[in-house]
Amino acid sequence: MAFDFIKDKLAAQQASSLYRQRVCIQQHGADDDAKSHISIDGKAYINFSSNDYLGLNNHPDINKAMQEGLDKFGLSGCSSNLVTGFHYAHQALEDTICQWLNKPKCLLFSSGFAANMAFFQALGQSSATSFFLDKLSHASMLDGAFSSKAAVKRFAHNDIMQLSELLTKSASGNKLIASEGVFSMDGDQAKLIDLSALATTHDASLFIDDAHSIGVIGEQGQGSNSIVEPDVTMATFGKAIATSGAFLACDEKLHDYLINFARHYIYSTAISPALAWATIKSIELIKAEQWRRDKIIELSHLLTDLLDPSINIIKSQSSIQAIIIGDEDKALNVSEQLNNAGLWVTAIRPPTVAKGTSRLRVTVCANHNINNIKALAYSLNKALC
Ligand SMILES: Cc1ncc(COP(=O)(O)O)c(C=O)c1O
Repeated sequence: MAFDFIKDKLAAQQASSLYRQRVCIQQHGADDDAKSHISIDGKAYINFSSNDYLGLNNHPDINKAMQEGLDKFGLSGCSSNLVTGFHYAHQALEDTICQWLNKPKCLLFSSGFAANMAFFQALGQSSATSFFLDKLSHASMLDGAFSSKAAVKRFAHNDIMQLSELLTKSASGNKLIASEGVFSMDGDQAKLIDLSALATTHDASLFIDDAHSIGVIGEQGQGSNSIVEPDVTMATFGKAIATSGAFLACDEKLHDYLINFARHYIYSTAISPALAWATIKSIELIKAEQWRRDKIIELSHLLTDLLDPSINIIKSQSSIQAIIIGDEDKALNVSEQLNNAGLWVTAIRPPTVAKGTSRLRVTVCANHNINNIKALAYSLNKALC
């Protein structure tokens, strides 16, 4: 029978504890306590697996802006950006992002995955380009880079020495260093100042995927742009910004090039203008409400203080607190024990992370409270010590 591999591959996933399934969640309401909870099959859990880091999802002001956007522009872009899909709301959002990050230009995409694919494919149209990516870069960066014509080198995670050696050896005249700002599965930060210095020394450009830094890092939530000035910043709206879609911020020349050559931009319907309008409101709140970032830091410190010192947690300045378990089965088992205690923490396994480093990826969000964190620490200590 054709496509026999489908059955075999699924059976192999199941046999090696790597089988993935979705769960259908229900949310309880719009206040902080309700937002930090989900229901699955009728049972309520405190959710420690959400990327709504700042607790902005379902915020009344963002919902109101969404409704206003719907009334003004409608829900659909109705066309691709280069036909008639580029609306006033998109322009206004691009301007808001440029001002926020102090960047000349910005381009909107339907998702972070599409933005990364588009960027690496467009820049890697020539074999004269070389990409230097941190080993832990997101799948969308890797897929974009490897599906391009560029030479791709990967350096060990945050290994500045190795990156420096690779850059020194490279004869390419078009070098791009690429890293996540905060790493999605580890929660630690890139060595941004070192990366930026290396870029200058080697006449390379610096690309930062700020999916997990935007909103969370910096006094107004500008992410890595509050620390260095990357040549290109990508960030998704689907995490701390709590809407959907993504942007690439860059200089005028690259912006013009991407409008002409980024296939995911050219051949795709523009993002919803109503969503763009709501995203402007979200960024306004992110800039103004420092208490959300302070709360993440305060609750993250509380969690690390309450955990038994034998627990292997990666040091982090972000919302992401990665607890390394190692074995896939054990990670699933601990996740299940937490579920039984009314806590939802998804176990992350290969291929998302390297074999032997399966983990619980805990996200501490601004809508959690001290009791939520105490409950999590108590159950983790019980399951792991
Ligand atoms: C580092 C990183 N880059 C890109 C993406 C993709 O963004 P999006 O969910 O908007 O496709 C994600 C997450 O999903 C991510 O974690």
